[in-house]
Amino acid sequence: MEKTLSINYFHINDWTELSDLDQKMIEKAFEACENAYAPYSKFKVGASVLLKNGHVVIGSNQENIAYPSGLCAERVALFHVGANFPNEPIVSIYIVAKGDLLPFEKILAPCGGCRQVMVESEIRQNEPYRVVLVSQNRKTLIFNAAKDLLPFSFGSD
Ligand code: THU
Repeated sequence: MEKTLSINYFHINDWTELSDLDQKMIEKAFEACENAYAPYSKFKVGASVLLKNGHVVIGSNQENIAYPSGLCAERVALFHVGANFPNEPIVSIYIVAKGDLLPFEKILAPCGGCRQVMVESEIRQNEPYRVVLVSQNRKTLIFNAAKDLLPFSFGSD
């Protein structure tokens, strides 16, 4: 029997529909992009994570001449949260990208490895968190749970 998995998300075209907090966090993700170390791909990714206590953690992709040693922006940010705020729940993660190869209106789809890490941090805190993806011209996709980005993920169940 054929089965279909669907992905739930909201598409926001008008930037002003977002809350002030969302707008501020998106700007922080773009600022984080500036700290990317991406001399090999020339593709800069930024992530900002909002914690329940109001603390903000940012991350950006950090590459290495031994290519697989580098890490994506989302994982840099999420592992920082795990290392420094292990008991503080995540409310939202905001993810943006900049690069010659990325048209202004295109939204970065996080890689599978980062989705797997997002799903596990969500399971760990036992509470869903929002994933907000934004293009350079501020078109926005909002997922209400990290698991919505990775249906049928690898896991204990
Ligand atoms: N990258 C991220 O930071 N996040 C993703 O979700 C996809 C890819 C980075 C890895 C590498 O530094 C560059 O983008 C090109 O793949």
